Amino acid sequence: MDQAVFTAVDTYLEDRLLSPDPTLEAALEAIVAAGMPSISVSAPQGRLLNLVAKMHGAKRILEVGTLGGYSTIWLARALPADGRLTTLELDSKHAEVARTNVDRAGVGEKVEIRVGSAVETMPKLEGSYDLVFIDADKANIPTYWKEALRLTMPGSLIIVDNVIRNGAVADASTTDESVLGVRKLMDLVRGDDRVETTAIQTVGSKGYDGFLLALVK
Ligand code: SAH
Ligand code: DHB
Ligand code: MG
Repeated sequence: MDQAVFTAVDTYLEDRLLSPDPTLEAALEAIVAAGMPSISVSAPQGRLLNLVAKMHGAKRILEVGTLGGYSTIWLARALPADGRLTTLELDSKHAEVARTNVDRAGVGEKVEIRVGSAVETMPKLEGSYDLVFIDADKANIPTYWKEALRLTMPGSLIIVDNVIRNGAVADASTTDESVLGVRKLMDLVRGDDRVETTAIQTVGSKGYDGFLLALVK
């Protein structure tokens, strides 16, 4: 099994399970055209975020790490008419591309993009959010996790992307700041009786990675 198989299966699943979506394809094209990295969630992952938000009946969503707004669109589409999503992005160029993408997707009036480091902007937010999706710089995941707990209430969901990193998460000798950020998250979650948590390893077009899911008790 290798990356070619993972990618081929994602292509197959997209073809069978996801309808062609010109708006989302245009968003990805705009991200590439702007020279931004191709690290948006995959389409099947985006659909998972969308379904989880719908199953949860989320009305207020917080996203940390916008990039070009691809995951933002998937999440915002799950919101009811009066639902709102706030997304935090460091890079003003990324935020501009995201604004265009989100507006073109027809969810612009539900989405607020705040520019600046989430390390600075997240502590200024007030809760409560029903769902928090953490997907920015990985070294600061512990900060985002603590803030997410402050900004949520019993029944809220917290999802953290990229917690497996090709298996590097299990390497106790790692010096990679991103992996260390995830390992600190795991240490924070361990023994925290405010949350019920799991993490799931995944393969797909984005390689071997995974996400953490926490339910606030
Ligand atoms: N959630 C997006 C992908 C986000 S990529 C999607 O799946 O479509 C990670 C983003 O986090 C990048 O745009 C990067 O600029 C941003 N970022 C990095 N450091 C940050 C910080 N300190 N605060 C806020 N955003 C940050
Ligand atoms: C990277 C960041 C992501 O959020 C992701 O899903 C994949 C890769 C990265 O910074 O390399
Ligand atoms: Mg990610």
